[in-house]
Amino acid sequence: MGDVMTMLTTFADSHPEVQGRVRPDIKGLQLDLVSWRRSLHQHPELGFREHQTAELVHACLESWGINHQTHIAQTGIVATIAGARPGPVLAIRADMDALPIQEENQVPYRSQHDGVMHACGHDGHTAIALGTALYLHQHCHEFAGTVKIIFQPAEEGPGGAAPMIAAGVLKKPDVDALIGLHLWNNLPLGTVGVRSGPLMAAVELFECIIQGKGGHGAIPQQTIDSVVVSAQVVNALQTIVARNLNPLEAVVVTVGQLQAGTAMNVIADTAYLGGTVRYFNPDLAAVIPERMEQIIAGVCQSHGASYDLDYWSLYPPVVNDAAIADLVRSVAESVVETPARVVPECRAMAGEDISFFLQEVPGCYFFLGSANPDLNLDYPHHHPRFDFDETALGLGVELFVRCVEKFCALE
Ligand code: NI
Repeated sequence: MGDVMTMLTTFADSHPEVQGRVRPDIKGLQLDLVSWRRSLHQHPELGFREHQTAELVHACLESWGINHQTHIAQTGIVATIAGARPGPVLAIRADMDALPIQEENQVPYRSQHDGVMHACGHDGHTAIALGTALYLHQHCHEFAGTVKIIFQPAEEGPGGAAPMIAAGVLKKPDVDALIGLHLWNNLPLGTVGVRSGPLMAAVELFECIIQGKGGHGAIPQQTIDSVVVSAQVVNALQTIVARNLNPLEAVVVTVGQLQAGTAMNVIADTAYLGGTVRYFNPDLAAVIPERMEQIIAGVCQSHGASYDLDYWSLYPPVVNDAAIADLVRSVAESVVETPARVVPECRAMAGEDISFFLQEVPGCYFFLGSANPDLNLDYPHHHPRFDFDETALGLGVELFVRCVEKFCALE
């Protein structure tokens, strides 16, 4: 608790330029936000196994008397907070899961679960959502309509958004719009990244087995060398981006795995390729796998090899609605005070399964800057030393609350 108290003092005295217009009632939540976040950080859990996490969320909501439903899509929770009178329904989504990474930070709140770590900031997302729920519950006479707060499992995979939608979280009452944020160490503390249209990329995966004919390393004429064929396939796949697509499209084709052979003097019978494809433009969904198959088929045919290609989509691209993105942008400008701290060029080729929610209802996902190089809090996401400046937690609550006050205005 000592370090939390120090942290609170630090928060109250420093970052005045960053705290912007965070209201006193939300600044007063900072100690709680930090303690929830650190408790979650100490007990990270992988996707669909967020049992302790869900227990903490449930215990908080229960003690505050907030209506909520647990065990949605296994470990998901939805809290529902009704405003002063009927009106629009806004959903706020937070993800709760951690990653299979061994934490290297030497902090008092470091992970106590071997090999599992909150290395993406989802502990912070859950804490911000809890703080938002508490504030809105205490000020429910200050907005109209209903706010649903969605605590989602398994964002890092295999994906908790789709099963939560299937379980009906966007219905009864029907959600009109949805917002969510990601703490973002690619942006400094005190900035917000928001834009309309595509923000994060589609995530697609592929596996290909190339079948040649093995044999003696010194008698190639009797073989079909799957290593030579796969090397040509790896190179040729890069022409999808370089030569088949408009250079103004942002696309990545990565072969991340290439395995073949068992000995230095043996020509490999088969080779295995595994990789990922990323893009923003939904129109490319059919083009890329089609071109990939043509290339692999052509290269294999020219060598007499055969292949088996498996290509599937994990998450669609995250595409923000223009009107809701405008709302978030104006809210962000009012919180960080300087419009220059609201960054429109913030797209990332990483993926996020909030995209499934945004396919169902208009919404906006945005980045909340959380890096502070002065405190060494700027390691990249998914790094064993990832950590963020907890000052961002209060900013996150203020942003969400202002979005609610604007979208669900009492008039
Ligand atoms: Ni993340």
